Amino acid sequence: MTDPATSATDITRTQAWGALSAHHAEVRDEHLRDIFAADPGRGSDLTVTAGDLYFDYSKHRVTRETLRLLVDLARTADVEARRDAMLRGEHINTSEDRAVLHTALRLPADALLSVDGTDVVHEVHEVLSRMGDFTDLLRSGEWRGATGERIETVVNVGIGGSDLGPVMAYRALRAYAEGGISARFVSNADPADIIGQLSGLNPETTLFIVASKTFSTLETLTNATAARRWLLDGLRERAGESVLDGAVAKHFVAVSTHAGRVSEFGIDTDNMFGFWDWVGGRYSVDSAVGLSLMAVIGREQFTEFLAGFHTIDEHFATAPLEQNAPVIAALLGVWYSNFFDADSRAVLPYSNDLKRFPAYLQQLTMESNGKSVRADGTPVTTSTGEIFWGEPGTNGQHAFYQLLHQGTRLVPSDFIGFAEPTEDRATIDGEGSMHDVLMSNFFAQTKVLAFGKTAEEITEELEAAGTPLDVVPHKVMPGNRPSTTILAPKLTPSVLGQLIALYEHAVFVEGVIWGIDSFDQWGVELGKTQAIELVPVLTSTESPAAQDDSSTDTLVRRYRGLRGR
Ligand code: F6P
Repeated sequence: MTDPATSATDITRTQAWGALSAHHAEVRDEHLRDIFAADPGRGSDLTVTAGDLYFDYSKHRVTRETLRLLVDLARTADVEARRDAMLRGEHINTSEDRAVLHTALRLPADALLSVDGTDVVHEVHEVLSRMGDFTDLLRSGEWRGATGERIETVVNVGIGGSDLGPVMAYRALRAYAEGGISARFVSNADPADIIGQLSGLNPETTLFIVASKTFSTLETLTNATAARRWLLDGLRERAGESVLDGAVAKHFVAVSTHAGRVSEFGIDTDNMFGFWDWVGGRYSVDSAVGLSLMAVIGREQFTEFLAGFHTIDEHFATAPLEQNAPVIAALLGVWYSNFFDADSRAVLPYSNDLKRFPAYLQQLTMESNGKSVRADGTPVTTSTGEIFWGEPGTNGQHAFYQLLHQGTRLVPSDFIGFAEPTEDRATIDGEGSMHDVLMSNFFAQTKVLAFGKTAEEITEELEAAGTPLDVVPHKVMPGNRPSTTILAPKLTPSVLGQLIALYEHAVFVEGVIWGIDSFDQWGVELGKTQAIELVPVLTSTESPAAQDDSSTDTLVRRYRGLRGR
């Protein structure tokens, strides 16, 4: 079944897949109530501790036999060999002929990894130490702007992987912000974004980090150009023309793999922090793309962040598949996507600080695994790419949980919670901490999702209260809705790194099983090219060139009319 040219496996034609299909037909209607009754030890047995993450997968619609068959599937797909090939730096991103080495970004300095003849660990640590030196200068106030003021705000200008990771982590680790630097993030081509983000900032104390792997992304270059104009206009207004010479070098740094384009933009390449083509954008928060985060939390906490990733990398590389948290997470994803036909996965952090985590995961998972062809170019033979979405609890409980509990769709969910709050100064009438209230919701929801409440139980309650019974069907909580619980001691830089690495590796394992290249993203290119082609059509005052289709043609003409062109 393995194609030697690409090592892609048509997994649906394997014996392991067939065994799972047959098993699914047998167990698909089993209820978690019965599964738990038949196997009371599963609440503690079906768990894995990976680093600081306690990963409880017992509330899934799987028996121990299901898990055995799923692990067989992983072995059939050669997950271990593929994992090792990735960690060694083989070019597993076949459509771009690149290594996939985000794990090298968090290797300790004394680790050895040479890829394509280069000492990767040395290069990584060289950049990390330049980042550390630079952020030390910012934080100590030694780095001064054009008028001699110290920098108070860094503005990260980037999009996709050059934005979502840093903004998510900045927000998640707000309690670790010390050193007097705050950050803002500009990503969207919508001018409202940059206008809003720059509002209230003083150009004299602002430094822009232009983060773009390719340094060719339209949104980022447009925003960076607007930022440069804002800076120079603002400095001129405040301090006169004389401060402008060399001002860009003092207020702009770049994070990129492309020195030529950085220098063309006018940023001194001495102030450029590099990374490598073997770091995918959506896997880059732990590269120089995390510079804004390091500026805010400092190099020591950033080192902790990297150490967290590395803890899970080690777990992923060494734990047997049966006790390997990312592997189990991936296998459950496959189980629901391909056997139960579930379309989406909810990610529900019970931490307001993780508000942007679902958005971050959307790029990580959907840009990686939203593919219709296998690595060898042949069509996939089963659905791929779960749709990730979510919001922090408890807010989501008052918005979409109704559908999770009683809707017709099966939505497996990941609940992420912490034993210690980031901060918890408030108490409620002396009854305990707000964090305990939050966490009681966390535990209650997974319990209700799994076990629900039967018509008999509800009837009994209503009868005891002497209330009419016609509401019974509306009140029935079907249960049997699967969830993973991830419990960690506290949302620290290390734990955040661990969480990200857990999902990164789960995405990889799903991709291996589906036989796809999880590390390219050709699907976003055509829209980018066509947007660039459409700019002159929208802005010209000449009669517009006809568009290929009548809908776009009419819309463009209408837009131009509304814009008075
Ligand atoms: O949207 C496609 C994409 O290439 C992402 O993969 C990437 O994270 C983002 O654009 C930004 O790219 P860059 O960092 O090169 O500006």
